Amino acid sequence: MLTQEQNERLTRVGPGTPMGDLLRRYWYPVATDQQLGENPVRSVRLLGENLTLFRDRQGRLGLVQQRCAHRSVDLKHGIPTEEGLRCPYHGWMYDANGQCLEQPAEDPAHNFAARVQIAAYDVQELGGLIWAYIGPQPAPLLPRWDIFVADNVFRQVGTTTVPCNWLQCQENAVDTVHVEWMHGAFGQYALERKGITDEAAFNQTRNFLRHHIKIGFERNAFGIQKYRLRDGEDEATAASWLEGHPLVFPNYVLIGGPGREELQMRVPVDDTTTWHLAYQIYHPADGVSLPPLGEIETFDVPIEDYPEYVLGQDVLAWPAQGPVTDRTVEKLAETDRGLIMFRKMLEEQIQVVEDGGDPINTFRDPAANVCIELPMEHYPGVNAYRVGTARFGRGPNNPVERYMDLLTGAAAR
Ligand code: FES
Ligand SMILES: [Fe+2]
Repeated sequence: MLTQEQNERLTRVGPGTPMGDLLRRYWYPVATDQQLGENPVRSVRLLGENLTLFRDRQGRLGLVQQRCAHRSVDLKHGIPTEEGLRCPYHGWMYDANGQCLEQPAEDPAHNFAARVQIAAYDVQELGGLIWAYIGPQPAPLLPRWDIFVADNVFRQVGTTTVPCNWLQCQENAVDTVHVEWMHGAFGQYALERKGITDEAAFNQTRNFLRHHIKIGFERNAFGIQKYRLRDGEDEATAASWLEGHPLVFPNYVLIGGPGREELQMRVPVDDTTTWHLAYQIYHPADGVSLPPLGEIETFDVPIEDYPEYVLGQDVLAWPAQGPVTDRTVEKLAETDRGLIMFRKMLEEQIQVVEDGGDPINTFRDPAANVCIELPMEHYPGVNAYRVGTARFGRGPNNPVERYMDLLTGAAAR
């Protein structure tokens, strides 16, 4: 249980708040390359701030303030040009540094454009995602986590706008036992309600229903490693107990299994909105080389209509705790000790930033940022893509189904 003040400290993300200052030390995905391909000018809301993201006609990225300096038209309606972005109202044009380059109706002799600049932010591309950094300079490096730089994999990302605070989404990362109920018992009930009798779906829920004999949490360099041992598993051999999987500070969790990994990313849009990305990679069958696959496949994960889908169950639970859950009335139990560890870590890292330091997972040495490997449980000898598809491939318009021939190598035969 927290006081009202502690709860605000951990949940408010706007500029000048303690958590807002900590969260501004990290890079966030703000669009996928496929989304920006569909529309090269997009509005972005991040940490309570409104911005405009664009790709100019030379293919360069820009991230600037929401509104035009002239008379405040929203630049999401802007026209991309060779040099930058042009406001649709009177044609003022800005480059990626926010510098105004042209004011077509004004006399160039006055040189007014040179004296107009709007706010601009760092923006980069990695792993099919467009990333923004809006914190203090100098910006840390955009972390090259292994999942973003892995070779010869199929990538897709399922996105959802979740109407609640980021922290309750992320606390799920250290809430181990919810799996039995949310994905087991509730999952079965959802199948029953929808009249779905598919055997694979029931098998999945049966697997989730297995009782946790032991759970464990351990701090590591990247965040918190989380361990579980369930009915039917052996302490001496279970990868989920021996190796576990990581909460990556502050807002990711890496899950998955053989042949498939999923980084769940919780992007704080504002105090009561979170953009959730389920970023998935699938490894092909042994010996199969994938051709270049282009933009990342991007699909929507619906928030309420899909309770029989694992991620649908989680995104149903988080806003069901309220827009910003009231932690002054919660009654944390023994199995919530991972949450308590995480909250302590957040407090401690807020303090690091207040003392002028770099919080964990900020990288500044390029040599140490080529490929950052996350400690993840391994399942040797299990055929990757099949397990991945059987367990996780279901979902509305899930793109991986269309790539199965490539992943299995059937397309080449
Ligand atoms: S409002 Fe943008 S050019 Fe006038
Ligand atoms: Fe879950």
